[in-house]
Amino acid sequence: MSDVRLPRTNPLTPEWLDVPDDLNALDPVLWPASVQRAATGELGFKGHGVGDLVAHFGSPLYLIDEGEFRSRARAFSSAFARWDVYYAGKAFLCRAVARWVRQEGLGLDVCSGNELAVALSAGFPPARIAMHGNNKSVAELTYAIEQGVGRIVVDSFEEIDRIEAIAAARDVRVTVLVRVTTGVQAHTHEYIATAVEDQKFGFSIHSGQALEALTACHGSPHLRLAGIHSHIGSQIFGTAAFRVAARRALELVAQFRTHTGSALAELNLGGGYGASLTAQDNPSTPADLRDGLTGIVDETCRELGLDPLKLAIEPGRAIVGPAGVALYTVGTIKPVAVETGEYRTYVSVDGGMSDNIRPALYHADYTAVVANRSSDAEPLLARVVGKHCESGDILVRDVYLPGDLRPGDLLAVPGAGAYARSLASNYNHALKPAVVAIGLSEVWPIVRRETLDDLLALDVG
Ligand code: LLP
Repeated sequence: MSDVRLPRTNPLTPEWLDVPDDLNALDPVLWPASVQRAATGELGFKGHGVGDLVAHFGSPLYLIDEGEFRSRARAFSSAFARWDVYYAGKAFLCRAVARWVRQEGLGLDVCSGNELAVALSAGFPPARIAMHGNNKSVAELTYAIEQGVGRIVVDSFEEIDRIEAIAAARDVRVTVLVRVTTGVQAHTHEYIATAVEDQKFGFSIHSGQALEALTACHGSPHLRLAGIHSHIGSQIFGTAAFRVAARRALELVAQFRTHTGSALAELNLGGGYGASLTAQDNPSTPADLRDGLTGIVDETCRELGLDPLKLAIEPGRAIVGPAGVALYTVGTIKPVAVETGEYRTYVSVDGGMSDNIRPALYHADYTAVVANRSSDAEPLLARVVGKHCESGDILVRDVYLPGDLRPGDLLAVPGAGAYARSLASNYNHALKPAVVAIGLSEVWPIVRRETLDDLLALDVG
């Protein structure tokens, strides 16, 4: 790539993006501790160079740092020592991850029968599993009940009837929480805000349906009503919105007591704690979250004269997000004239919205560095895009990469552990990438790369 084709400066730079002093530096806030640049300039994970990893496991490639995952899980369980901490498997789940979660002593939140099957196949104790979902099928509920899942979080009146029927037929009692909608407006993308009115999750407190659902569960001979569940959304920074939700949920606990004379024993405040994707993000530490949440819960319980409840949270992204790194191979580099006559450089890589749909779906901003070498070239403002047939197929909207970037270079995207590989699709018949664990003692694939044979085997026409 000649210098002539790559503009040196670019007035398209968004205000929030600073020109980095050193394009080779790895911001410790964004990268797992095991990542380092070798003397050669290549990124290595515990000494395993990205070039070898890609040669061995293919590109694109997802890496999950086991040590980072475990230390983040532990940071939550030790900060929230008196709470139950469930890892939200939807962020990323496979058998190895389920085993790490089990060994770290956390519970697991699953939201489908198949997530439950993965967890059980890894020997995860069912009693430590909470099952979610706004439309669990009778088959999924039956499976969960027969396996002895610890909590089912109910989300509709039909579901209450279904659980009642399944439990009655087996003469068992099923422990449930009622998912409520607190009406809190959290500052996050509309598609991942779940506590506002007029969306599909939960029973609204405001409309009275939440109290009605609690009363129905309370009156059922085959349900054991443990308490309330609130999840207000995802990628939320700070504690203000969680505090408002906790207060409203506790007010409902008090209302339920007035209504029925009974106490509720548990309050699960869900997940949604933000994680860094770029240096501009500023997530709370588990200790900050604990202080914020415990403060409001204690204060509200005192005010309302409620006995202490068993509290729980369900972080997913904040545990697995920063433990994950995505690797891509650069294919083409194209300066594209924009309306003003300036140029934006489009860097196309071999993955895209099929392995990380978050920029397209939620306008999530990621960052990237060149991974196979270091470079002292001038910074070049670039947009990293995928190889799919959509102009919205963007992976990193704005990032400075070295001006000597060339096809064949590897790019590494940090913060990619959550909701990227787990939302992967086969769009354009892309093959879902492998996930490789940077293990405590070895590097090993925990999810193999899909093959064309896998795809062809599904096509039975
Ligand atoms: N608990 C419940 C009931 C949830 O619905 C979720 C996420 C969590 C816990 C975990 O939330 P986390 O701590 O991971 O933010 N695909 C979207 C996120 C959807 C989240 C769905 N529920 C994204 O890529 O941002």
